[in-house]
Amino acid sequence: MTDVSQNAEGHDAPKREHWGSKLGVILAVAGSAVGLGNFLRFPGQAVNNGGGAFMVPYIISFLILGIPICWCEWTMGRLGGRFGQNNGPGVMYSLWRRGPAKAIGAMTLFIPVVVYMYYVFIEAWCLYYAYHFFKGTFAATFASAVEGIDPANQGEVVDAVVGASGAFFGNAVSSEKNGGILSSGSMLWMVLICFVVNFAIIYRGVTRGIETFCKIAMPLLIGCAVIILIRALTLDGISKGLGFMWNPDWAALKNPQVWLAASGQIFFTLSVGFGLILCYSSYLRENDDVVLTSLSASSTNEFCEVVLGGMIVVPTAFLFLGASAASQGTFGLGFVTMPSIMYFMPGGNFFGGMWFGLLFLAAVTSSLSMLQPAIAFLEDGFGLRRSGSVLMLGVITAIGALGPLYYTRKLIGLDHTDFWCNFMMIIAATCQVLLFGWIIGAERGCREMNRGADFNVPRFMPVMIRWITPGFLIVILGSWAYMNAPGYLRGMSPTIQGSQAARSVYAGAIGDHFSDEGLSEEMLGVRVDEIVGASADPESLPGWLEDRRVEADAARTVAEEDASVARSVFILLAIFYLSLLVLSDIACRNRIGKTIAKAEAAGVALGD
Ligand code: PHE
Repeated sequence: MTDVSQNAEGHDAPKREHWGSKLGVILAVAGSAVGLGNFLRFPGQAVNNGGGAFMVPYIISFLILGIPICWCEWTMGRLGGRFGQNNGPGVMYSLWRRGPAKAIGAMTLFIPVVVYMYYVFIEAWCLYYAYHFFKGTFAATFASAVEGIDPANQGEVVDAVVGASGAFFGNAVSSEKNGGILSSGSMLWMVLICFVVNFAIIYRGVTRGIETFCKIAMPLLIGCAVIILIRALTLDGISKGLGFMWNPDWAALKNPQVWLAASGQIFFTLSVGFGLILCYSSYLRENDDVVLTSLSASSTNEFCEVVLGGMIVVPTAFLFLGASAASQGTFGLGFVTMPSIMYFMPGGNFFGGMWFGLLFLAAVTSSLSMLQPAIAFLEDGFGLRRSGSVLMLGVITAIGALGPLYYTRKLIGLDHTDFWCNFMMIIAATCQVLLFGWIIGAERGCREMNRGADFNVPRFMPVMIRWITPGFLIVILGSWAYMNAPGYLRGMSPTIQGSQAARSVYAGAIGDHFSDEGLSEEMLGVRVDEIVGASADPESLPGWLEDRRVEADAARTVAEEDASVARSVFILLAIFYLSLLVLSDIACRNRIGKTIAKAEAAGVALGD
């Protein structure tokens, strides 16, 4: 086989970049995988989905979805690289010269870029928290919160600390009021710093930027996490906390939501199935191993997730604050509970700063990987120079980030964006594995996978890739859509949401008014309908209810606003995806198509 990295490019094209070393690739891919998903999302998902029992669907998803799709994606990326492509649309198009390949390609740009648009904020929160721990703001806030409380009264102290921590978070991210961030200068600075750091590293390129940074950041952050883990495991009584995290609640396994959560976590945490790996592995040389390399990166991720992520946050939260604090949602756990723990933990200020510092590093190594696919696309697809593509992507992501930046009330901007990205992740992974199994052909694909490999993949891999993995994915996708889509569509209707909100205000008052009748839920519903009507927008109300009208109308306005944010997010994302689709089509017809043709003329083929 010819060395295409030479032939596939014209004289005018810049020389193709390759990873500097094997350790470098592993750390870069592990850097993408290890992120907030490991230290924040995983513990939250596990405690809320059956604790130890969560590990059953989690491990199954890792084996059936994570590993096979990872191998497919690495192999396809390496192949695409031989056709001179480092970008998702180009890789997909070089493997399958048909329209749908461009659509899958567009997804591989869409998902990482859109995830970046909200992930960068969480990254900024981490930096903000690290800064305030080291500066002593937390120590001071907690000290004034417990002032005057008898230290012997443990419960009250805990409440005061957690309360102060919650208020700090609410203020920092402005979760009460849309647009609040704009008037809080310091958080805006953090966001700006994160943007600059990410784009500066990306600007330096794959080897000098991403690889170099990950080679320093990864060992550093794992080292910090190990130190914190040792601190946590040597706390008195920590075994009770570990028990809380890891005791299985087997009944959870009957709940499909738990299975969905587990597989969703696998995609998110491994950064697999939606184009990142495609981009990173395209920088490999044609005989570089993919089998062991990808397994090493995934194992590093699992170590960071299960061992480091799973044994720090929840067990310490349980130990110091009790069960209720330990079973918060992801953000509550990460940004309210975790800082509170530091108040009680000896050396907490230092460990708090270190913890959020390591989260920040983990977030940066991930967010870098979200940018590179689009940078590669602008370069390969439109011949932009590095500076042009960095500038352009900077502008696009900055505009996109305005949504989550402004709509911070209950963090809805961020939540909705995340929801649609998760949805697209499952679709993109399904498309990729189907393309690999059925278009390239699972057997041929696996032969390619084994090329240059340090060991061969198991013999049953083709069957797995053709049938089991896509089958499992389709079941998940089906049940996911079935369980979430109707609620989500309703959530995007301002009218429905508005009347529901107003109705529940009236329902509360009506329930109170007739409390001596002890109305059942159902009877209460009937009574509410009679009094305020189905839309809860009555012309006239009985005197005793009239004074609730203002409150009900206010609730209606808020809910209507939230629903229209949800709807706008959906519409804007759809428009963004369609624009990427058009760009992907244009690029494949022109520059990408030409580079592929040149590679083919030089003898590159899919293999036999
Ligand atoms: N895998 C990263 C984490 O665990 C998140 C991520 C999502 C990275 C999407 C890249 C793309 O935090």
